[in-house]
Amino acid sequence: MPTIARPDFAGRVAVVTGGNRGIGLETARLLARGGARLSLWARDTLRLEAAATELADMTEVHIVQADVGDEQAVQAAARAAIDHFGQVDILVNNAGTLGPRAPVGTYLASDFEAVLRINLMGTFHCCSALVPHMSARGYGRIVNVASVAGKDGNPFVSGYAASKAAQIALTKSLGKEVATTGVLVNAVTPSASPTDIFGELDEDRKRALLANVPMARFVAPEEVAQMIGWLCSEACSFSTGATFDISGGRATF
Ligand SMILES: NC(=O)c1ccc[n+]([C@@H]2O[C@H](COP(=O)([O-])OP(=O)(O)OC[C@H]3O[C@@H](n4cnc5c(N)ncnc54)[C@H](O)[C@@H]3O)[C@@H](O)[C@H]2O)c1
Repeated sequence: MPTIARPDFAGRVAVVTGGNRGIGLETARLLARGGARLSLWARDTLRLEAAATELADMTEVHIVQADVGDEQAVQAAARAAIDHFGQVDILVNNAGTLGPRAPVGTYLASDFEAVLRINLMGTFHCCSALVPHMSARGYGRIVNVASVAGKDGNPFVSGYAASKAAQIALTKSLGKEVATTGVLVNAVTPSASPTDIFGELDEDRKRALLANVPMARFVAPEEVAQMIGWLCSEACSFSTGATFDISGGRATF
């Protein structure tokens, strides 16, 4: 088994949205193990505090209770992180919601908008708040946690799939826009991972989620964090605007 080099994040400061559980918390753990200091943003204060307590043994953790869909709240969170650490080098746009499962026709427009507000506008607000800071410093790594649903679509979650497709398009545009500034912007597209996003999963739903996955299993949040970690590192030096697949063979592009 080849040795896997552990990314070195010494001296780096990372913002992880939704960093208090699931894929975001695993990413925060990986970044902390590599020496990054962390600013975790999420809506749920209790779980933010629990994450900060856990990670405090490894690194300095700053937390901000914020709704990423709220532009003013995101601007304030970015200012707070920069005031606290003096810099932000890494942004992981991980906060997201699945929204309702419903066929188009009964899927409410207000629910569709609510999903776009968090998954798409949240990513946009965080990029808007931090890209000028990163560009001015000449260094940045941004990773947008999209989904294979944004490439392939999934029935009954049209709002989610549309928001993730738009997140991928935003990644492509922004990656090209800032390509000469030292700021790299990439996306990851996991298939289903057993986190809180689904709520309780019964056997039928598990079967349906795995039906299109050739590797026939869920991806662990730790595996997704490994890919995000590399994209957050200096080792990722010539990829931007790109979408990195982690879907067990479901998507091959
Ligand atoms: N679990 C999967 O199967 C899967 C697959 C592909 C992509 N993803 C994506 O991975 C990301 C993380 O999801 P997860 O699976 O860890 O689920 P999760 O439900 O455990 O985590 C979602 C995180 O987002 C935060 N969040 C939600 N709405 C927010 C808001 N308005 N403002 C701030 N924070 C908010 C939550 O507090 C939580 O920390 C999401 O973007 C999700 O779409 C998940």
